[in-house]
Amino acid sequence: MPIANPQEKFIHELCLTYDSEHQFLEALQQMNQQASDGELQGMIQAHIDDTQQQIQNLEQVFDQMGQQPQRQTSQAAQGLVADGQTSLQEAQSEAIADTLIAGAQAKVEHFEIACYQGLVTGAQQMGQQEVVNLLNENPQQEQNTAQMIEQSVPQLVQKAMQASS
Ligand SMILES: [Fe+2]
Repeated sequence: MPIANPQEKFIHELCLTYDSEHQFLEALQQMNQQASDGELQGMIQAHIDDTQQQIQNLEQVFDQMGQQPQRQTSQAAQGLVADGQTSLQEAQSEAIADTLIAGAQAKVEHFEIACYQGLVTGAQQMGQQEVVNLLNENPQQEQNTAQMIEQSVPQLVQKAMQASS
């Protein structure tokens, strides 16, 4: 679809983000079954709930913009998910798998933060305050998740080191 103005650019990026969230929701559900560490599982479960809410927020943004929710395949999200899954297939222990899951999840969250920052800026520029309010919650949750996951990484790596020694 041609992108001729900032509004169309915003919708284009909204469709990509909407697709990304669906892809990541599926990946989270899969990783939840592959994770062994209880704390990691808890974080993934909490973020599954966040992500469902985020998808609803995006649907409200579409509504606010007078559009039907529409997914446009995000190749970036596909790549992030594929990288995570390919690495996990190589994991030789549960503890190593947990470190790979945490690393993959952290990358996803930072990608999502960048997507939302772009959307929030676009909505601000268009003077769509209602959309800004709807969007603001999502990057906040991504930030919190990224922070929690990153804080858990040293401990997960420690466990993997102990398991392999
Ligand atoms: Fe997320």
